[in-house]
Amino acid sequence: MPTTVIIGTQWGDEGKGKVVDYLSQKMDFVVRFNGGPNAGHTVINDYGEFKLHLVSAGIFNQKAISIIGNGVAIDPEILNEEIENLRGKAVSCQNLKVSDKAHLILPWHILLDGLQEKERGTNEIGTTKRGIGPVFSDKVGRFGLRAGDFLDEKELSEKLFLSYNRAKNLLGGKFNFSFDAILKKILSHRSNLLSYIVQTESILWEAISDKKKILLEGAQGALLDVDFGTYPDVTSSACISASACQGSGIPPKELNEIIGVVKAYTTRVGAKEQPFPTEMPPELASELREKANEYGATTGRPRRCGWLDGFLLRYAAKINGFTSLAITRLDSLTGFEKLKICSGYKTKEGKTISLAELSLSQLKGVQPIYLELPGWKEFSKDCKRFSDLPKETQRYLNKIEELVEVPIKLISFGPERKKMLEV
Ligand code: IMO
Ligand code: MG
Repeated sequence: MPTTVIIGTQWGDEGKGKVVDYLSQKMDFVVRFNGGPNAGHTVINDYGEFKLHLVSAGIFNQKAISIIGNGVAIDPEILNEEIENLRGKAVSCQNLKVSDKAHLILPWHILLDGLQEKERGTNEIGTTKRGIGPVFSDKVGRFGLRAGDFLDEKELSEKLFLSYNRAKNLLGGKFNFSFDAILKKILSHRSNLLSYIVQTESILWEAISDKKKILLEGAQGALLDVDFGTYPDVTSSACISASACQGSGIPPKELNEIIGVVKAYTTRVGAKEQPFPTEMPPELASELREKANEYGATTGRPRRCGWLDGFLLRYAAKINGFTSLAITRLDSLTGFEKLKICSGYKTKEGKTISLAELSLSQLKGVQPIYLELPGWKEFSKDCKRFSDLPKETQRYLNKIEELVEVPIKLISFGPERKKMLEV
């Protein structure tokens, strides 16, 4: 697995952190390549429990070089806090490198995120309010500040002043920042972060020519992708496998494996009314939510819970070209007498919908077609092989492979690192 990409296949929160932590033990380089602090990747290992927003969940392989790529939007305050927290738990950030091309989230991006949500009224997206939409708007609008702007203090304050004035003009009376106070804060972040900022793509080119093992960690998931997701209820960056190249500087021909991370059921977090065809009835959803602690790692919001949607997974597999799947959180389904998997959708009139007819913006009103499978009671303590899993779990997994037409390679059945099977 020289260059491996990890991608979320659903609406985020698939357990990518656990998979990255596990696989990165064998890697020489780990790279976060998209999104920003809207991500919350949970890792539980010998160092403790972590919810990482910007640093790759591969940081725990202390021998690997850990990169935050150009595709990531960085909030300098959150990055500083994250580094401090890691250090406080004996995790060194000595091998951390931050791309000089990564865009910076500034305080007005966060203010604007909140104001834009208000302006949308009942059509609000339910963003994480981390400034993601506004920072990526500034990036494509060519107004952004980048980590590389930290390198020259004088230029930084000039560019910050331009950005400050632009935001002030746009926001008028709602803008209540003092430039001096913001500059002071940014300069203090600068002094903490400066040593990490470099041109990261050339480090990765060299790693490729030296045949090093690279893991590329995606944030969010296929259904949140700004082009192919449930637009407009999506994030503001690309989150499919193609974005691993755009967000790191690694050319497409160098990608060898693309692993889709599939949570054994589906969750969605955002505004309440967003379509979610396989959402469970409230009582069942709440049972699963409490059992699996389905609350946002970034915002603490309760996640909506539903059955596995095999049809949307098929769609995700088409867009991403998965070479294998990693199934997570099987343990959270333990104890359910019957399990459902959605194998397709029908219209209200009863007509089956093909992938070519699927519109992710119009999921409202589609009727899921369900397969029903028996549940399982428990996993044996010594689960080391596929055949050690309960027969019912094996059937559930075989059905996923059949529906998605991609082989399963990794199976996670508990939060700890050791609760993982390789097939
Ligand atoms: P990880 O990497 C789950 C969702 C938000 C909101 C929409 C837009 O942990 O899987 P944004 O703040 O990005 O403008 O919000 O996208 N969202 C996520 N949901 N996991 C994530 O990341 C998410 N990142 C964004 O809840 O509905
Ligand atoms: Mg999340």
